[in-house]
Amino acid sequence: MARDTKLHYMGNRYMLRRSISYFSPYKLRVAIAIVAMLLYAPIAPALAWLTKYVTDQVLMARDMPALKLCIIGLAALIVLKGVFQFMQVYVMNATGILVLRDMRRDLFRKIIRLPMPFFAESEVGMLMSRIVNDVVAVRQCLPSVIMFVRQIFTLIGLIGTVIYLDAYLAFWSLVVMPVALYPIIWFGKKVRKYGRKMQSELSGVNVVLEESFSGIKVIKAFANELREDLRFKAENESLSKVIIRQIFYSEVSSRVMDFVSAAAGATVLWIGGSRVIQGDLTPGDLTAFLICLVQLYEPIKKINMSNNQIQQGLAGAERVFDILDSPEVRMEDDGDVEFDGAFDEMVFDDVRFTYPGCPVPALRGVSLTIRAGQRLAIVGPSGSGKTTLVNLIPRFYDPQEGSIRLNGLPLTDYRLASLRLKLGLVSQDTFLFNETVADNIAYARDSFDRTEVEEAARAAYAHEFILEMPEGYETMVGEGGVKISGGQKQRLTIARAIMKNPPLLILDEATSALDTESERVVQQALENLMQGRTSIVIAHRLSTILTADRIVVMEKGRVVDSGTHAELLASCPLYERLYQMQFEDAVQPAEPAPAAPTCPNP
Ligand SMILES: Nc1ncnc2c1ncn2[C@@H]1O[C@H](COP(=O)(O)OP(=O)(O)OP(=O)(O)O)[C@@H](O)[C@H]1O
Ligand SMILES: [Mg+2]
Repeated sequence: MARDTKLHYMGNRYMLRRSISYFSPYKLRVAIAIVAMLLYAPIAPALAWLTKYVTDQVLMARDMPALKLCIIGLAALIVLKGVFQFMQVYVMNATGILVLRDMRRDLFRKIIRLPMPFFAESEVGMLMSRIVNDVVAVRQCLPSVIMFVRQIFTLIGLIGTVIYLDAYLAFWSLVVMPVALYPIIWFGKKVRKYGRKMQSELSGVNVVLEESFSGIKVIKAFANELREDLRFKAENESLSKVIIRQIFYSEVSSRVMDFVSAAAGATVLWIGGSRVIQGDLTPGDLTAFLICLVQLYEPIKKINMSNNQIQQGLAGAERVFDILDSPEVRMEDDGDVEFDGAFDEMVFDDVRFTYPGCPVPALRGVSLTIRAGQRLAIVGPSGSGKTTLVNLIPRFYDPQEGSIRLNGLPLTDYRLASLRLKLGLVSQDTFLFNETVADNIAYARDSFDRTEVEEAARAAYAHEFILEMPEGYETMVGEGGVKISGGQKQRLTIARAIMKNPPLLILDEATSALDTESERVVQQALENLMQGRTSIVIAHRLSTILTADRIVVMEKGRVVDSGTHAELLASCPLYERLYQMQFEDAVQPAEPAPAAPTCPNP
C-alpha cells in the first residue's frame, strides 16, 4: 500500500488536468452544458429585478394588465431556469458516466497488461476498488469545476445587483463574506482528507471480502468464521468511522453556511427595514435585495459543495492515475521479433532470479539446454525452484542475471504475444472461465469448429464425461457454473492445451490427490498431449521420469545433476533419495492393498 502516497508529487493541478482530459472526447456535450449554464446564470438576478418592478411599479400603480404580464414573465423565467438547469445537469452527468466508462476501460486495459509481479504485490481487492470506486469520484471533477465557475458568475451578477440596489446595505451584508469563505477552505481540506481515507478503507474492506470468499473452503475447514468475522468487523468499522467523520464535516460545513446566511439575512432585514421606515429605500428595493441575498448564499453553498467534490475527485484521481500514469507501473516489455513457432532449442545460461521483495534468490545460476523433440523432466525437493524456472519461459518473470535464449535470440527480443501463443502451459492450479465447456476448451482460439473441440476433448479423455453433463459442450462451467471434479478439470485444461497445439509444452504435474483410476486417465491424456512435442515437465510421476530423454535434478535454485534415470540412480544421491521417497511405491501398483481390518463388509 506504500504506492498510495507516492504520487502526491504530481500535484493537484496535474490531477485536475488529467481528470479533465478525459472529457475532451465529449467537447460537444460539454459545450452544450456550458452554454446552458451561461444562459441559466442571468436568470437569478432577472427574477430579482422583475420582483422589484412588480412591487414598486405595478403594485403602486394598481396596474392589473401589467401584473398579469409580469406573472407570465415570471413563470417563463422559472420555466427557462428549469430547462437550462436540466440541460446543464443532465448533459453534464451523462457525460460524467461516459467518462467513468472510459476510465474503467483504461484502468482494466492497463492492469490486465501489467507484469505478474504487480499482481503478487498488490491485493486484488485493492485493484477492484480502483476500478469500481475511485473512478466515481474522478468523474465529478469537471462537472464540479463547471459548477464552480457557474456559481462564480451567478455570484458576480447577484453582487452587482445588490450593490446597484443599495450600496450601503450591500456593504453590510457583504462584510460577512470573508467570514463565509474561511470555513469553505477549512472544511474543504477536512472533507478531502476523509475522502482519501475513505477510499483506502473501502479497498481494505474489498480485500477482506475478496480473500474470504475465494478462501471460503479453508475458512470453513478450519472453522475460522469467527476470526474472519473479526477481521471484517475491524475493517468495516474503520470504514464506517471515516465515512461518519466525512458526513459530519460536510454537514457541519453546510450548517455553518446556513448560519452565516441567516445572520446576514437578519442584518439586512434590520438595517434595510430601518431604511425603508426612514424612507431611504423603497419596499421593492428591499424585497429584491432580500431575494438576491437568499440567492446569493446559494452559490456560496454550491461553491463550497463543488469544492468538496473537486477535493474528493482529486483524492480519487491520485489513486487512479497512480496506476495509469506512474512510471513505476509499467506494462510488460515487448520485443519485436515474431516467434513463428518453429522451435529449435532453448538455452538457459547461468540464470539467476530473486522474487521482488524476497531476500533469498529462488534461482542461483541455472544452465540447461533443451532441443526440439526432447522431453526434459525436472525433479527436485519442494521449493527448489522448479516452478520458478518454468515461469521464466512465458516471461511471467524476467531473470535479473543470466540469459534465456530461444533459437539463438534472447527471449526478450520476441513479441510477447507471439511467444506465449506458442507455449502450452498446464499447471497444477487449473482455472476455468465462467463460460461453456466448448468455449473453455477453445480459449486459445477466436473461432473454432465443434469437431476440433471434440477431437481435443477425446484426446484429453474428456469427451465422455462432457457428454454426460446437462447440456454437453454447451454446459456452463467455472465460477457460477456446473461443478466438476479435480480430475475432470485437469482433463479440460489438457484439452485446452491440445487445442492450442503448442510446439513447446510446459507441464507442472500435479502432486495430485487423484484416485488411481482418474490418475491413470489424466496421465494418458497428458501422454497424448506430449506426443510429438518438445516438453518440459516438472515430474511427480514415475512414468514421466522413465519416458524422459533427460532428467534435471534441482536443489535450492541450482541444477545439481542431469542425465537419464539409470545414470542418475548411479551418480546422484539426491536423485536416489527423491526417487525412493516419491516414486518407489508407485513401482508396485499392481499389488492389491491389504483390506482394512476395521472395515467389515456391510
Ligand atoms: N510469488 C513468489 N514470491 C516470492 N517467493 C516465491 C514466490 N513463488 C515461489 N517463491 C519462492 O521461491 C522458491 C522456489 O519456489 P518454487 O515454487 O519454484 O519451488 P518448486 O520447486 O516449484 O516447489 P514445489 O515442488 O513445491 O512446487 C521458494 O523458496 C519459494 O518460497
Ligand atoms: Mg512448483
